[in-house]
Amino acid sequence: MKTWSTENLIILLIIVMVTLPTAPEISYGIPSQLCSNCHTMHASYFEGPTHKVTTPRSFLLKIDCIGCHSGSSGPTSFPYNAPIVYHTSNPGGTGPGKTLAGGDFYWVAQSGGDRKGHNVAGIANNDITLGLTPPGWDPTATSGFIYGQVANGANPWNKQLTCAGTYGCHGNHNFQDPLVALKGAHHNNAKVNNSATKADSTTVSTYTVAGSYRFLANIYGLEAVDWEWNATNATHNEYYGVNGNANYNNKNTISYLCAECHGYFHSNIGSGSPWLRHPTDIALPSDTNKDYTNYRSYNLAAPVARPTVPSNSSSTVTPGQDIVICLSCHRAHGSENDYILRWDYKNWPSNGQTIGCSVCHISKY
Ligand code: HEC
Ligand code: HEC
Ligand code: HEC
Ligand code: HEC
Ligand code: HEC
Repeated sequence: MKTWSTENLIILLIIVMVTLPTAPEISYGIPSQLCSNCHTMHASYFEGPTHKVTTPRSFLLKIDCIGCHSGSSGPTSFPYNAPIVYHTSNPGGTGPGKTLAGGDFYWVAQSGGDRKGHNVAGIANNDITLGLTPPGWDPTATSGFIYGQVANGANPWNKQLTCAGTYGCHGNHNFQDPLVALKGAHHNNAKVNNSATKADSTTVSTYTVAGSYRFLANIYGLEAVDWEWNATNATHNEYYGVNGNANYNNKNTISYLCAECHGYFHSNIGSGSPWLRHPTDIALPSDTNKDYTNYRSYNLAAPVARPTVPSNSSSTVTPGQDIVICLSCHRAHGSENDYILRWDYKNWPSNGQTIGCSVCHISKY
């Protein structure tokens, strides 16, 4: 049998490539969907055989943040393909295969669940014990900052938390309507963000929200494409931290996001042992006589941030370099544990679990 020469094979390949219709670019999220999945021109439309009339809302949307971002199971909602942050049935715990990285609002929505999540309007009522003002609220924490809640009405706090905007975490804090705070973000999602995708802190540009880590205006990070649904110790989000950031000089760290509302917990921490509040935005000490020197393999139970956002996630932890963050202990949205903790600290160590404290403070347990 006659064998094909390499030249012939290459020519054949070129012919095939030129004549085949271009395969559609694989894309996740919004660009691959029908406009009519999410928008309605007159707040009146047909879905299946049913005629629906909704309350008109910004950008002609059929539904709000919570509507798109909730679902009964799995990582994304139907028909919107939005990452689910509020499961309507019990996820059975937080972490890979159960919830996305931020945890879940499921628990805070249950009666008596106040301590288990951020009480976001539309999901849960006000937190009976904590009220409206964020614990540790420090109006000077974000002063002079374009995305500051203070400048735009949140001092004193007199409204319940929302997903985004002045009284929320995502988007541009200059706008109270959560959807307006995200304007342009969904259709321009930068997907993989790192410190090179600099969000602009001096001009209010809608697209900086799209370029920020998870639409958190001005925050840096590397986004796991599956929002950590299948996270491992090697494949996960990468957070950004700065060693010694208690003076808020750097406004791009993930812990600064929390400081925008919980200011004192980030700043009034002391400057060395004995610490006054649990330190965040400090590097794990590298002294070989300290516990942390043995935290070398990234553990999803107690994530650390990096001083430079890497372009790939890694399973390595480097004491002297990697940084303690609010999210080392907490989830952002909600969890099955009190204080939105990643683990059951209240009953530890008697519950016998290996929890995050012991990932860093190895010799204490
Ligand atoms: C999966 C849901 C979804 C689909 C599908 C979708 N959109 Fe949107 N769109 C949104 C959301 C959410 C917003 C408002 C928040 C934001 O801008 O991030 C929005 C905002 C907009 C805006 C105003 C903000 C901007 O980016 O300019 C326009 C215009 C728009 N969409 C047009 C379209 C068109 C045209 C299509 C179809 C090609 C479409 N959308 C498909 C969810 C969707
Ligand atoms: C009409 C449906 C719809 C609405 C309304 C909507 N979203 Fe989304 N959202 C989506 C979809 C779909 C994605 C996934 C987009 C992608 O993968 O690019 C998404 C992604 C996100 C992400 C993740 C972005 C990232 O970088 O991975 C955040 C954060 C978010 N939305 C927040 C919000 C907030 C806050 C609101 C309300 C102000 C909102 N969304 C309203 C459909 C919606
Ligand atoms: C937009 C303001 C805002 C931001 C940003 C914010 N929080 Fe909160 N947080 C609040 C408010 C308000 C409360 C009190 C009411 C409640 O529990 O929802 C609260 C409560 C909490 C609680 C106590 C929950 C309970 O009921 O015991 C924890 C823990 C917490 N936040 C952690 C964080 C972390 C970690 C971050 C950063 C990822 C963060 N917060 C970012 C506003 C905010
Ligand atoms: C070392 C783990 C750890 C870190 C890091 C951490 N927290 Fe906490 N946080 C806890 C624990 C544990 C509690 C429960 C109360 C307690 O034991 O003091 C708590 C409670 C809270 C509360 C509820 C306070 C109240 O009055 O009910 C808030 C709000 C909070 N943390 C926010 C933050 C923020 C913001 C950061 C980052 C600046 C942060 N935490 C960093 C472990 C941590
Ligand atoms: C991501 C790593 C990490 C996690 C998780 C963590 N810590 Fe820490 N913790 C540190 C670092 C780093 C310091 C500061 C150490 C130093 O300067 O020597 C510290 C300091 C402390 C201190 C003050 C020590 C002093 O000398 O003043 C206490 C107490 C403490 N942690 C308790 C806890 C508890 C309880 C938990 C769990 C709720 C916890 N930590 C979780 C890293 C961590």
